[in-house]
Amino acid sequence: MRKSDHITWHQSTITKKDRHELNGHKSCVLWFTGLSGSGKSTLANAVDQALYRENRKSYVLDGDNIRHGLNRDLSFGAEDRKENIRRIGEVAKLFVDSGQIVCTAFISPFVEDRELVRRMFEDGEFIEIYCNCPIEVCENRDPKGLYKKARKGEISNFTGISSPYEAPIRPEIIIESHKTTIEQATRQILSYLKEKKIL
Ligand code: ADX
Repeated sequence: MRKSDHITWHQSTITKKDRHELNGHKSCVLWFTGLSGSGKSTLANAVDQALYRENRKSYVLDGDNIRHGLNRDLSFGAEDRKENIRRIGEVAKLFVDSGQIVCTAFISPFVEDRELVRRMFEDGEFIEIYCNCPIEVCENRDPKGLYKKARKGEISNFTGISSPYEAPIRPEIIIESHKTTIEQATRQILSYLKEKKIL
């Protein structure tokens, strides 16, 4: 909810279309969603690197990093996760308006929150990428040792253990990260961008 009145939108002189023309490609958000340890951040970074090498304008927004700064005031309760995702949606929208391809890596466990973000964008700009990986595999990887702590009850509301994860219903892309290599998954995503004429 907006808490301030008497504010007016100021239209910028340079439009998103102008920026697309300058960059030679369109902008969009690649919204990676999935359990902790499902490969979101790794893949978001691999795609960012591949785009960088092709001279494209891209950037990564990562859950753990954003929670160190912009969203440091938010917990892992359902309401705060909702606010986490809403803010990231708004930030991603700014990046898309600035002409960039933004890769976001957030668990974003709730369908409703992701749909709210999808509605912030124009058709085709929000590309949901489901990092579909069985919890046993994520738990086995446990790169930060958090599953172990969650099992011992040392972390509350841990996604997949003591807090739910709602899988996307119709994601644009599904990556079965336990079955594909990072290179294959990166190629799959770049092919999608080319097929949709974003690149
Ligand atoms: S989200 O659910 O609100 O989208 P977000 O992606 O920002 O989550 O942050 C997830 C990261 O925070 C995980 O990768 C993990 O490192 C860390 N984390 C700490 N506590 C929790 C928790 N209770 N549930 C899930 N992840 C947690």
